[in-house]
Amino acid sequence: MSWGLKNRLNRIIKPKTGKTVMLAIDHGYFLGPTTGLESPGETIKPLLPYADALMPTRGVLRTSVDPKTDTPVVLRVSGGNSIIGEDLSKEGIITSIEEAIRLNCAAVALSIYVGSKYEHQTLLNLSKLVDEGERYGMPVLAVTAVGKDMARDARYLSLACRIAAELGAHFVKTYYCEDFPKVVASCPVPVVMAGGKKLPEKEALELTFNAIKDGASGVDMGRNIFQSNNPVSMIKAVRAIVHKKASVNEAFEIYK
Ligand code: R5P
Repeated sequence: MSWGLKNRLNRIIKPKTGKTVMLAIDHGYFLGPTTGLESPGETIKPLLPYADALMPTRGVLRTSVDPKTDTPVVLRVSGGNSIIGEDLSKEGIITSIEEAIRLNCAAVALSIYVGSKYEHQTLLNLSKLVDEGERYGMPVLAVTAVGKDMARDARYLSLACRIAAELGAHFVKTYYCEDFPKVVASCPVPVVMAGGKKLPEKEALELTFNAIKDGASGVDMGRNIFQSNNPVSMIKAVRAIVHKKASVNEAFEIYK
């Protein structure tokens, strides 16, 4: 791993705690105007100071994020699908590594769809991106996207995370599940937890607490923050668990 790649990764996963709170706002790349992200700039602005990293597409980054920010950007670079298209797993690389460098990104993110129709294509996308990332010192985040017929259990998620790491991903994003410690233990690179669909705030904080307790290197959370009734309080509460080992009740007090 080059110095530049390590330095970029350390901007995201904070060396002081070994953890990160990433704010995922890339949903529009296949979902269009997701609830809470209809006007992305308005959603992002108050949350940005509390995010260790922001995960947008280049379109939202250019149009809706203040370039004066010092929050590192993890750029989504896979897509080409839509929620009404042929198959969600039919993704390609939509943004070049040079563009990610021009946009001063700290990492690039891409989805893999293990067990889906276009699994092979998405795994080759990852391999190609890792080769380019190594060339330029740009870390790659593999997002273990789950096809609609896949069970989100430890057996499946361990398979997807391990394949991502074996193909060279520098960190992996996956869902929380029963036996999550097994998923983390069998993945030789840091694992961050995806939040998933909106839950009542206390449940989302429990999910965060359990993921951190079970070895996650942080969260890459979207809807459970920006669809909350009070997004800023919610991201502060998530931060308290991730970086300050707060209990669920302590974090919920921060939220309230
Ligand atoms: C999904 O493809 C996107 O990468 C989302 O950013 C990801 O699922 C995390 O967002 P959420 O916490 O809303 O699930």
